[in-house]
Amino acid sequence: MFCIKQDLFTYRRDGRCRDFIVRSVVLVAAGKSPGLIWLMRFDPFSKTFFNDPYELYGQLRDHEPVHHNPELGFYALSRFDDVLEAAMDTKVFSSAWGVTVRPMSPERIAAMPMIIMMDPPKQTRHRRLVSKAFTPKRIAAMEDVVRDLTLEYLNPLLEAGGGDFVRDFAGCVPVEAISLLLGVPKADRQWLRDAVNDSLTVEEGTGNPTATGIAASKKKMGYFFSLVAERRTKPQEDLISALVAAEVKSDTGEIEKLTDKEIVGFCSLLQAAGSETATKLMGALLVLLHRHPDALQDLRADPLGIPGAVEEALRYWPPSQIQGRTTTEEITLHGVTMPKESRVLLLTGAACRDGRQFPEPDRFDIKRQFPIQLSFGHGAHKCIGASLARLETRIAFELLFASTKEISIDESRAERVQMSNVAGYSSIPMTVVS
Ligand code: HEM
Repeated sequence: MFCIKQDLFTYRRDGRCRDFIVRSVVLVAAGKSPGLIWLMRFDPFSKTFFNDPYELYGQLRDHEPVHHNPELGFYALSRFDDVLEAAMDTKVFSSAWGVTVRPMSPERIAAMPMIIMMDPPKQTRHRRLVSKAFTPKRIAAMEDVVRDLTLEYLNPLLEAGGGDFVRDFAGCVPVEAISLLLGVPKADRQWLRDAVNDSLTVEEGTGNPTATGIAASKKKMGYFFSLVAERRTKPQEDLISALVAAEVKSDTGEIEKLTDKEIVGFCSLLQAAGSETATKLMGALLVLLHRHPDALQDLRADPLGIPGAVEEALRYWPPSQIQGRTTTEEITLHGVTMPKESRVLLLTGAACRDGRQFPEPDRFDIKRQFPIQLSFGHGAHKCIGASLARLETRIAFELLFASTKEISIDESRAERVQMSNVAGYSSIPMTVVS
């Protein structure tokens, strides 16, 4: 029996159904799933992906742990152990072709070098230049600054009795914090956030950047180039000035200064990685608590439980759902051979709900204990900003609970982003009673 799911009708319309039936027969012949074949198609540019990919993720994990999408040209790994191992194996699973769904051209990568798109040892040398600014100790010292930034955006919401949790609050605080570290002047921080937002937004169906996004990217880059030039002449106490002064070993072992392009690459990466993801984490936690009023009540009664709830929200709805890689050699996993230079997507979103790793994976449990937070990636590229994101989210909810008696959201009017790699809410209408 064939159980045909998901986008079958798309295939029927464009005449590709036959290929999939043939593929299923091959699978049955290979004894893969006797009697039941899921004709699955994981499309990271589809509405299913942006809105609710979790049922499909479950099918992928159980029936095609190495899923091949020949039309979009990638393999996808969905089980926890496979994603973890691939994240740690930078020799075979390289980031040097970029980490989005589609590989990037070498010209594009050379135009804007970023550690997230480098492999060790170069990535390790460059990462060291910024990682000191993000150690748990350095970030803990930012507690008061982040509290002040949070109140700056929370107070107007409280005075108005509500607003849009993402647009007016969760979207603003993380960008302020990372901009402050970088040295972006206050007046430029929120338009930069809009520019990051636009530059990450993709067209549904194709995954291509939008015209607005391309223009926003150019404007953002131009801005960072001028800021770097300014810091070269007038250094300040900020991360951009530290990068201007930094020295790093080149591939040939010589000590060099970073180029403007490399510094702008850092600015651009930190600005994007440091704002959109943390925004999505806050939105996710708010909606999850709305859906789980008992958990909300527990946290109001005992705010010391907030860090646990933050970890569970990260696991339940990872803001960064996909990490793209390219194989440097042929590799076979679960009987599927991925040739050299295959595009491979590490489906972090699917891995974090793997029942092989997490008991009752679809249950949101703010007291859940687990040793590895895969939502921040793992291995050489493990998120640099994890401590900052955790701090921002904890403080946001501590202050929200401390200053309100009641919070309600209108989930029916909430909106989601359609972004490269990132998933979550762009708008959550909220009312509060102080
Ligand atoms: C909830 C918030 C966040 C999530 C879920 C998140 C997630 C991730 C993930 C999954 C990776 C690994 C990418 C890969 O393996 O290809 C990563 C890397 C990175 N993140 Fe985050 N991130 C968050 C917040 C932040 C913040 C606040 C910053 C700002 C400092 C930041 C900066 C970075 C950087 C620079 C990298 C690249 C590290 C490298 O390649 O060595 N992230 N993040």
